[in-house]
Parts: sequence; C-alpha cells; structure tokens
Amino acid sequence: MKHRIPYLKKENNRYSLMVEDEPFMILGGELHNSSASDLSYMKEHVWPGLKRLEGNCYLVPVYWECMEPEQGKYDFTLVDGLIAQAREADVHLVLLWFGLWKNGKSEYTPHWFKINPEYFYMVEENGKKVESVSPLCHQAVELDRRAYVELLSHLREVDEERTVIMIQVENETGIWNSPRDYSEVANAEYKKCIPEDMARLYGVNGTWEEVFGRDAPENFMSYYFSHAVEKIAAAGKKVYPIPTFMNCVDFGFPARAGQLPSGAPIPRVQKIWRCFAPSIDMYGPDIYAPDYRGISAAYAGTDHVLVIPEMAQDKNVASKALFTIAAYNTICFSPFGIEGLMTPLSETDLLSQTNSDLVRPEPEAGVLLSEVYGILNYLRKNIQKAQDEHRIYAFLEQGNPSEEFVLDEYILRVSYGDGGMRGHMGQGGHRSENNPIGGGFIIQTKKDTFFLCGISCNLEIQPKYASQEEIFILDKREYKWQDGCIVMGRIMNGDERNYTAIGGIPGMFEITMYRK
Ligand code: DGJ
Repeated sequence: MKHRIPYLKKENNRYSLMVEDEPFMILGGELHNSSASDLSYMKEHVWPGLKRLEGNCYLVPVYWECMEPEQGKYDFTLVDGLIAQAREADVHLVLLWFGLWKNGKSEYTPHWFKINPEYFYMVEENGKKVESVSPLCHQAVELDRRAYVELLSHLREVDEERTVIMIQVENETGIWNSPRDYSEVANAEYKKCIPEDMARLYGVNGTWEEVFGRDAPENFMSYYFSHAVEKIAAAGKKVYPIPTFMNCVDFGFPARAGQLPSGAPIPRVQKIWRCFAPSIDMYGPDIYAPDYRGISAAYAGTDHVLVIPEMAQDKNVASKALFTIAAYNTICFSPFGIEGLMTPLSETDLLSQTNSDLVRPEPEAGVLLSEVYGILNYLRKNIQKAQDEHRIYAFLEQGNPSEEFVLDEYILRVSYGDGGMRGHMGQGGHRSENNPIGGGFIIQTKKDTFFLCGISCNLEIQPKYASQEEIFILDKREYKWQDGCIVMGRIMNGDERNYTAIGGIPGMFEITMYRK
C-alpha cells in the first residue's frame, strides 16, 4: 500500500514528525557502527534484543563503501535487507548516510574513491594530512551527491510503506584537532575576501580574518561544509523529500574549533548552516558529555524541536528519557549502541570499539528503558498537551540535590537520593549506589492534582510561600505499567501516605491535595 511520505509539520509553535499523518515520537536507539554491514549478524545479535526493548524506530547506517563498491554500480542489498528486517520487527528506521564524512573522517568512502589522488584530504595546522576529504574538493562532493541521490531514488521506489521515516545526511562533519583545513586549496580560499553570499549574510566584507577575527577558521569551515552538504541534501530532497537532519558532537562548554570538529553545525555557527544548507531540516546533538541538560536545552531552543540521535548508553538512559520527552518537544530519543543494552556485546566486540568507555550499560538499564518507552508512548499526547498548556515540569539530577518549581498554587520540590525528605529530616535516605540518577516529570492534571512519573526521586508538595493555608493529602494513588497500559495500583494511605519516594525503577503516583 502506498502511504504519504513522512514530513515535518509546524503547528502552534510545535514541530511534529508526521508519519501516516500522525505525529510520531522516535523512542529507539542507534546501532553500533558496524552492525548493519551484515544482515545475519543483525538477525542473530541485534533484532532479538531490539524486540525486547520495544522501541518504535532505530537509527541504522548506510555505508557508501558497501552501496557503491564499484564506481557507478550500486548495490542495495543491505538497505533492502534492513528495511525487510525492520518491517518484520514492525518498527521504523532512520537511515544515517555514512558518505563522505563520518566523525570528521572519510572512513566510509568506497575503496576506489580512497585510492584516487584527485579527491584530496584536509590538512591540519601542523601540516599533517587527515583521512578526511576536504569540503572544498568539489569532485568528491559531486560523487557523494550522485550516490546519495541513488539511495533516495531507490528508497522512493522500494519504500512505499514508509518504513524509513527520516535521514541523517553525513555524520558529525568537521575537522578535529585543527581550527581549519590547511590544504593548498583551502589556504588559497582563506586568503581571499569572504564569498559574496557570506558577505550578504553578515552585511560586511573583507578577508575571513578581517571579518571574523579568531572565529574565522570555524566560520570558514562551516561555510564550506554547509555548501557541500547542501549540494548533497538538496539533490536528495528533489528526488524524495523525507525529513533530514544532521548530528554534531557537543561537550556543552565553549570548546575551541578543533577541540570540537571545526565545521560541525553546532549552535554558534548555525546561522551559517541555516542559511546555506536549507535542505537540512534539523540539527541534533550527540551527547556523551556530563552536561546533558545544558546541551539538550541549547539544541531544543533553536527550533523548539529536539532530535537526539546519539547519547551515552549507561544506567541513566531511562531517567534521561523521562526528562527529555517531558522537557522538550522531542521527536527523537536514541541512545547509541542500543543493541548492547538488551543483549550484552561479546568481549571481542567491546574491546574492538574505539569508544567502548562511552557505552557501558548496566544489566538493568535496558529493562528500565523498555518500560519507560512504553510509558512515554502511552502518555505522549498528555505530555504534549501539558507542555502546550504549561502544566508540566521535567526534572533531572545533574549534580543538584533538589529542584523546586511552582505549578499554580503549589510549590513542588523534587529531591534526589539522600537529599530527599527523609534525608532532610535526619532519617537518612535509602538510595542504593547502583540506582540510576533521578529523573522524571510532574503533570498538573487538575487544579489540586499532580501526576508524578519518575525514577530515583522524592516529591514534596507545599503551598506557595505567601499562603497562610495548610494543605493536606486528600488522595494518593499508585499507578503501574502493566501489559502495555498504565493501570491504577494501591491507594497509598497510612505509612505509605506521607513520603512520595521512588527508588531505582520507574514509579508513578497521582496526588490530590486539599486545604483547611
Ligand atoms: C559518535 C559517532 O557519530 C558514532 O558513529 C559513534 O562513533 C559514536 N561517536 C561512539 O563511538
């Protein structure tokens, strides 16, 4: 059956990823880099775990080197196989185009491409050549463009079911360890006045350094990368206009160009990207750094939409999922190396990964994430409505012992671990060291009623500071996740009434207050 091509819709200041004409929230994960290169590995080691996780969409790479093993001859065996496997698992896919650039390198270019000297590499400030094609190498960009167009033409033909709902164009563009490309071609351009379109965008003229001073190298790289990516993405959009995005690693502190890939679409250069790469719909952070809240806020702030294609996969992912979906208009939440969360990877696999230290799941993390995905999917519409009506507060422990916020007539105080109410009252907390960090959200469901969903947190409800009234609990209900639904549990009275404390697994309560 032919379905409408997925698209982005903006309504009431909210972007939605529309799949089958319904807003779709990706609750999934990104695969390890090499998994999708072997369909039988996928079958044996990946899909069984993903089925247990019960996400609704997974981010899988398409490798240029496998898709065009001989120049001009395209092989879609992997793409077709992945689509068939996803359909069998009843999930969607986001494809990651590992074309010219993957983590600031050109590791996924075909062999025939790599050995051709015409396609020149970038050069670091110290004169060292990096295994990464320069965005100023127009012939190389043209070859990537052709391959990408072939991919999208193929998708248009084979995917009328719209299993693939979005595409990431390239992967973490930019140059590491150097403020800019110092290849001969780049040096020659860098000495000139900034190009006309750049001069128009900034309303100034002069050389790169005259106009941008110490930020010149990063702006220079962003200019050339954005033009290169636009050439590729625009050609793809013409053929098959599914939503596009790009990812960038971000550490959440003002790292200099080169400490972060110079030429990545991070917020400080997005003015350039948004102007010169209009075929990219969204930019999302890969969050492996501790400042999860700061980084996610910076990206969510730009378009009121958040795509997190990658994040460290650790015991805290479920808490972060609750926070992220409630805090922002999130259309994609996707921990990296997701297959390792449900089915621990072999020692060989772990040892051979460059960044295995970033992907350290705890045995329980997958089970928690699976439950949280179920809950979030179930509550998606309630959460979005509460966001639109400002009746929701999301919280996440990040070095802070507690946080406090006002909803209408009430002050709600969430505290974490031993800093909880029992802690304040000198009773000591019960937090186990292995528990995930605290995270979750509170929705005001009626004037005096609050629904709490969280992990590792305590909730205390107080009247607003100026109020003379005393407030008491009228009713406190437990809710639980059962057979794909949220159902009512115990009535929490007596010993269970006064402390609303949730341990290391997801908990839900609805509390109604009264005044006297
Ligand atoms: C960021 C990259 O985009 C991913 O492909 C992967 O390499 C991760 N880092 C983890 O190593």
